[in-house]
Amino acid sequence: MEYVQFGKTGATVSRLGFGGAALGVKNYIRPYDPLSEESRDTAHKALETALELGVTYFDTAPAYGDGVSETIFGDVLGGLDPGRIFLATTCVPTDYDGVMRSVEGSLKRLRRDYVVLLQIHGGTYTDERARKILAPQGMAEAMEKLKADGVARFIGFTSEDNNRAAFDFIDCGCFDAVQLCYNFIFQHPYEPSRPFGSLLAAEKQGLGIASMRAPTSGAFQRWIKMIRPDDDFDYGPALVQFVFSNPLVDVVLVGMRSPERVRQNVAIANNLAGRIDLRALHRRSAADS
Ligand SMILES: NC(=O)c1ccc[n+]([C@@H]2O[C@H](COP(=O)([O-])OP(=O)(O)OC[C@H]3O[C@@H](n4cnc5c(N)ncnc54)[C@H](OP(=O)(O)O)[C@@H]3O)[C@@H](O)[C@H]2O)c1
Repeated sequence: MEYVQFGKTGATVSRLGFGGAALGVKNYIRPYDPLSEESRDTAHKALETALELGVTYFDTAPAYGDGVSETIFGDVLGGLDPGRIFLATTCVPTDYDGVMRSVEGSLKRLRRDYVVLLQIHGGTYTDERARKILAPQGMAEAMEKLKADGVARFIGFTSEDNNRAAFDFIDCGCFDAVQLCYNFIFQHPYEPSRPFGSLLAAEKQGLGIASMRAPTSGAFQRWIKMIRPDDDFDYGPALVQFVFSNPLVDVVLVGMRSPERVRQNVAIANNLAGRIDLRALHRRSAADS
């Protein structure tokens, strides 16, 4: 397993990160019941396999199945030496007291007395929402208090977008880390040809950078099925490898539900020769070659 420094947090983390959405959300991407005994058992084994194979970065959220993903994480990771893993969770946009309540619930489910990284659970931030988050007595201030108290070692935010609010958060100086949606079909965070994008801005600010949805949450595969119904090529590994190929992405989060998926993604992460040259991919002029 490849390990990197997670930006200004200074923490050393595995390049492959365990994404917890798929474990907790009912029918996420494909039919799935996170509450069945069989799913729970397989999910536990997936987490155990990840630990055995050297994954140290684990990302979850209270929103994933109304606490189900955090509870599953707590079952397996709760008893570990807390320094062994980099455990990240989130809190949906709320007010100061809402942050405190959310984290209290997360810690119970995760069976820990602190989380390593607490992130604002983004989706889309309108300018108004971003202003509220950064305003005095707002969400960012609550997160800074939790950081000062050691309840969250680091704080950050997640964003599906490459919009103005994401750039404002990157530049505000209050966050240690960011989690951005970046994959083969959503490449705006990294436009090396211009150059432009939130990945480049986050790198400039020294933030720890995680990416979400490397296998495109199934969208690329569905598109292929629409235009070439008989195409049975497994594009998954290439999609995941595409994100590993970006050196600005410290941690590639991938949603994994089974030990087989974990083993597959660890093999992709370890296949350094399979990485591609993204600058060559974006080359637009023969003169650049
Ligand atoms: N904070 C936020 O707003 C936010 C939003 C999205 C994601 N995230 C984080 O990022 C993580 C990853 O995103 P995601 O889970 O939404 O989507 P994803 O990683 O794009 O998709 C997860 C699904 O991809 C499949 N998969 C995994 N590895 C594969 C491979 N090598 N080849 C083909 N398919 C593969 C798995 O399907 P099977 O079930 O068939 O194995 C899994 O359920 C999340 O779990 C979460 O931690 C955060």
